[in-house]
Amino acid sequence: MAEVDGQVSEQAGAIRVRALAAIEGAEAMEDLQRVEREFTAKNGPVGALLASIKTAPPLERRGIGQAVNELKGAITCALEQRREALAADRLAAERRADDFDPTLPAASLDVGSLHPLTHVVRRLEEIFTQMGYAVLDGPEVELEFYNFDSLNIPGDHPAREHFDTFWCRSEAPEAASARLLMRTHTSPVQMRALERMELPFRAIVPGRCFRNETTDASHEHTFHQMEGLVVGEGITVGHMMGAMKTFLRELFQKDLEVRLRPGYFPFVEPGFELDVRCPFCADRKTRGCSVCKRSTWIELCPSGMVHPVVLRHGGVDPERYTGFAFGLGLSRLVMLRFGIDDIRHLLGCDLRFLSQF
Ligand code: DAH
Repeated sequence: MAEVDGQVSEQAGAIRVRALAAIEGAEAMEDLQRVEREFTAKNGPVGALLASIKTAPPLERRGIGQAVNELKGAITCALEQRREALAADRLAAERRADDFDPTLPAASLDVGSLHPLTHVVRRLEEIFTQMGYAVLDGPEVELEFYNFDSLNIPGDHPAREHFDTFWCRSEAPEAASARLLMRTHTSPVQMRALERMELPFRAIVPGRCFRNETTDASHEHTFHQMEGLVVGEGITVGHMMGAMKTFLRELFQKDLEVRLRPGYFPFVEPGFELDVRCPFCADRKTRGCSVCKRSTWIELCPSGMVHPVVLRHGGVDPERYTGFAFGLGLSRLVMLRFGIDDIRHLLGCDLRFLSQF
């Protein structure tokens, strides 16, 4: 056994001497790579030594394994040192060259940027959390109950036609009583919030919505909304107007008028269309611009006082509590904010568009 051990260590020592000499003698990276391949290849000298384990008596195998590992370690270490030395030589040579110019700008790296939607959502979250709102989330694949029935839109309600719904197919027998769909608005999270939050509360829900619509410059099957919901004792339309003015002042950095027009949505009573004075031409003498189509007003969001039926569905006593809700069209707001003229850019993944933000 001792004899074989001695033989192995002799072989390992010889390989080591040859390898270290070859590594030391490598004058360029390419040479070094060649030496590395030569010595570390499976059929190279180290590989052959390792292969001898198979035919060695069991008691000697351990010794062979150890010798091979030490040899590999020594070779790897020498390769690393030589690689560093060659890299340093190369850099030094480049610096000595006549055309070396340390003042040249470095090659620019392609770095990503935030999506315009992310910019706006982050800003809105900042503004509303400062006003005491919680930021909530809800499922995009939603139960029919939350998306419609609980919001006072039963199966035969004509308002359902307003939502071109993507229904999810399900083979499950319970499907009829719990049909799934892609949520058509962020309003179902109103009901989830009523069920879950302690009263009083204020919340916003930014999120994706889906409608089975023909797409064009202002319609997309996937778009973003931000729901707002405030419930407490004595909440009035005045609170809603105040909240909207505050958030608009923060977003556009100026005081903007808001106005209400009557609007109909089954889950609010009364319901409104809330308009804002066009932030893009409000200061100018000549009132009206292309953004507000010369009217000086921009439709901002539908809103209203939460319908008593909705509060009751959420387990809240409408005799004691009231609330307001609004459904901000986030995609539209982003388009307004950045002057984007086609909603399809938002989810289009075109880097020429995205890299502008
Ligand atoms: N969810 C409605 C839609 O997408 C918009 C809406 C209207 C939201 C009135 C509200 C609201 O919160 O109060 O058409």
